Amino acid sequence: MKIVRSWKSWLAMVALAALTTAFATHRTATPPQEITVWKSPSCGCCGKWVAYMREQGFKVTVVDMNDVTPVKRQHGIPENLWSCHTAVVDGYIIEGHVPAPDITRLLREHPNVAGLAVPGMVTGSPGMEGGRAQPYDVVSFGDAKTQVYAHH
Ligand code: CU
Ligand code: CU
Repeated sequence: MKIVRSWKSWLAMVALAALTTAFATHRTATPPQEITVWKSPSCGCCGKWVAYMREQGFKVTVVDMNDVTPVKRQHGIPENLWSCHTAVVDGYIIEGHVPAPDITRLLREHPNVAGLAVPGMVTGSPGMEGGRAQPYDVVSFGDAKTQVYAHH
């Protein structure tokens, strides 16, 4: 009886080790999150946000266009939330200089919203460094009314 028990616990340990290894392998094998960004080729802060997102581990595809307005309209982004660049990640719209951790949280929590925005161009937001940093809100928008998602 005692032998059977130790066999069982030995098996359990092996199974646990195998699971842990499988889980670790799966985690390392997770591909980077892809995000597509529409921006003007002459927009400096847009380029900086793209560089920032790459540093944060995102796989960024850039679509340069002189006027991003049609993309904003096509995605139904309320005009009062407009910024410089527009991005789409996993079906969510990201408008402007949204910090990467808020995007990661959005993808994890998967709320029923169209996306996140940092309206305008806020000094101190990612890609808008330099100068005196201003406090700002990341807002979520969609069918439900625009609400604060994160405060910075
Ligand atoms: Cu900008
Ligand atoms: Cu931009």
